[in-house]
Amino acid sequence: MTKLAFLGLGVMGFPMAGHLAAAGHEVTVYNRTASKAQDWVARHGGAAAKTPKEAATGAEMVFSCVGNDDDLRSVILGEEGAFAGMSQGSILIDNTTASAEVARELAEIGKQKGIAVIDAPVSGGQAGAENGALTVMCGGEADTFARAQPVIDAFARAVTLMGPSGAGQLTKMVNQICIAGLLQGLSEGMNFGLKAGLDMQKVIDVIGKGAAQSWQMDNRAATMCEGKFDFGFAVDWMRKDLGICLAEAENNGARLPVTALVDQFYAQVQARGGNRWDTSSLMQLLAKD
Ligand SMILES: NC(=O)c1ccc[n+]([C@@H]2O[C@H](COP(=O)([O-])OP(=O)(O)OC[C@H]3O[C@@H](n4cnc5c(N)ncnc54)[C@H](OP(=O)(O)O)[C@@H]3O)[C@@H](O)[C@H]2O)c1
Repeated sequence: MTKLAFLGLGVMGFPMAGHLAAAGHEVTVYNRTASKAQDWVARHGGAAAKTPKEAATGAEMVFSCVGNDDDLRSVILGEEGAFAGMSQGSILIDNTTASAEVARELAEIGKQKGIAVIDAPVSGGQAGAENGALTVMCGGEADTFARAQPVIDAFARAVTLMGPSGAGQLTKMVNQICIAGLLQGLSEGMNFGLKAGLDMQKVIDVIGKGAAQSWQMDNRAATMCEGKFDFGFAVDWMRKDLGICLAEAENNGARLPVTALVDQFYAQVQARGGNRWDTSSLMQLLAKD
C-alpha cells in the first residue's frame, strides 16, 4: 500500500484514481471544483484536500491529470502547487496530454528539489480509464519508472518506458498524428458509401475484417453513419493535442501536411458548435456539405 495523491478528477482522472484506491492504496484527491472531490471520496473512501499542495504533502507518489500545459503548471508549480508539498524521494506521475517541453521543465525543477518526474500520458479514452485498461507511455529515469510501474498498473493494460523525460509525450503525439489522418480517411469512406447507397453496416462488417480495419472503424464507423458524435474524446482536446504535435514538428523538422489539414477541419467542426463532439465528427463536415 502506497500513500498517493491524485490531482484532477475529470472524465479520465476520476476513474483512474478510483482504480488506485481499489488496488488498496491510500489516496488523497484534489479537484479544482471541490464537489467532484467530495463525490469521489463518497464513492471510493480516502480523503479530499483543498489544494494540490495539501493533497501532495506526505504522498510517496502524486498523479496529475488536468487539461493542458498551463493547467499543469498551475497545479504543480506555485505556492499551493504539488511541488510545494512533496518531499525528497517522492515521484510525480503526470497523465495529462501535454508538451514534451513542459515534461522536461517539470523534470528539471523536480530534480532540484529531489522529486522525480515521469510524463505518463495515456491512450484508451474514457472506457479505457473506467475499465482500468489504459495504455501508458512514460518518459523518465529507469529506476523511477521501476518504482512507479506497479502502481500505475492499477489503471493500465500496458505501461512502457519510452525514454528520458518528454519521451512519453512524444509517443502520445505519434498516437494522435496516426489517429487524425485515419479519422479523415474513415469519414470520407463512410460518407462515400452512404452517398453510393450502400448498406453501411454490411460494408463495415466486410471491410472491417480486411486491411481497412482499425480501432476507429470497429468502435466509431457505425455511429458515424448514424450521425452520432457523442462518444468520448472531444474535438477541443484533439485540437489541443494536434497543436502540440504541430509545434513539436517545428522543432524536429518533421512534415505533417495531413495532420495540419485535419487540424483545420477540426477548427471548422468547432465553428459549427462541435467543441464537445467526439473526434469522429469530421464526418459531419462531409455529410452536411
Ligand atoms: N477524455 C479522453 O478520452 C482522454 C483520453 C486520453 C487523454 N486525455 C487527456 O487527459 C487529460 C484530462 O482529460 P479529461 O477528459 O479527464 O478532461 P476533463 O474531463 O475536462 O477534466 C479535466 C480535469 O482537469 C482539471 N483542471 C483543468 N484545468 C485546471 C486548472 N487550471 N487547475 C486545476 N485543475 C484543472 C479539471 O478540474 P474541474 O473539475 O474543476 O474543471 C478536471 O478535473 C487531458 O490532457 C486530455 O487531453 C483524455
